Amino acid sequence: MSKVTWKAGNMVYPVPAVMVSCGNDREGYNIITVAWTGTVCTNPAMVYISVRPERYSYDIIRKNGDFVINLTNNELARATDWCGVRSGRDFDKFKEMNLTAVPATKVKAPLIEESPVNIECRLKEIKELGSHHMFLAEVLAVNVSDDYLDKKTGTFNMSATGLISYIHGKYYGSSTVPLGKFGYSVEKSPAATEKTGSHESPEAEQEQKSANEEPASSGREKRKPRWSSERKKSSVKKRSRKK
Ligand SMILES: Cc1cc2nc3c(=O)[nH]c(=O)nc-3n(C[C@H](O)[C@H](O)[C@H](O)COP(=O)(O)O)c2cc1C
Repeated sequence: MSKVTWKAGNMVYPVPAVMVSCGNDREGYNIITVAWTGTVCTNPAMVYISVRPERYSYDIIRKNGDFVINLTNNELARATDWCGVRSGRDFDKFKEMNLTAVPATKVKAPLIEESPVNIECRLKEIKELGSHHMFLAEVLAVNVSDDYLDKKTGTFNMSATGLISYIHGKYYGSSTVPLGKFGYSVEKSPAATEKTGSHESPEAEQEQKSANEEPASSGREKRKPRWSSERKKSSVKKRSRKK
């Protein structure tokens, strides 16, 4: 396969297009759409968003030291785009997009109620990289919509939320048919894995475990005990079966 080489540029895709909410009172609440975002550490759970200093949201986040990453789905695609092409200097984006600001559990910035997953973040460090400054932050809490929680098992059905991704200037809906699950490439056989629930790679197992771990306390206790106890029980079972 022959290649054409381009000059340096950003080409890591797909990325999410998230709505980052910020501000510490209703008058000051704002939303900025961010695609330069991701996870940087499992434990402690840490994320980043990269923001240009000229954005209205930049000073708000810098001053208040917190923000919320709201994942976006098909229903939120238009609002995601709009909040990425209009400034909070000129508009109340919550009002214009008919979005609901609700209090977070650990930070002053609000959650966007319509988003299926809200990640509360406390700013730890700002890296002034160039066009964008990277806001490194610790995740303090994760809030998930109970519309996607299995009432019996407490499992969160992430694929049912219809998360969107952003690829080279365009938004795409997510497929609900997975190509595989974490670690499937190294499983001995699909049947064996179904029986033991195990992964060949301990790293994969560790990552899978943390990916599924109970989110930090959200203050919405009604779903916490079920989720955590069932998780623990099932992992003990799996381990003893393996032996
Ligand atoms: C899909 C998409 C992704 C974006 N990603 C970023 C980003 O990662 N960092 C950034 O500073 N601006 C990004 N923007 C631009 C800001 O969202 C945009 O300038 C917005 O109007 C800023 O809002 P504010 O002035 O209210 O803060 C993105 C816009 C879109 C539509």
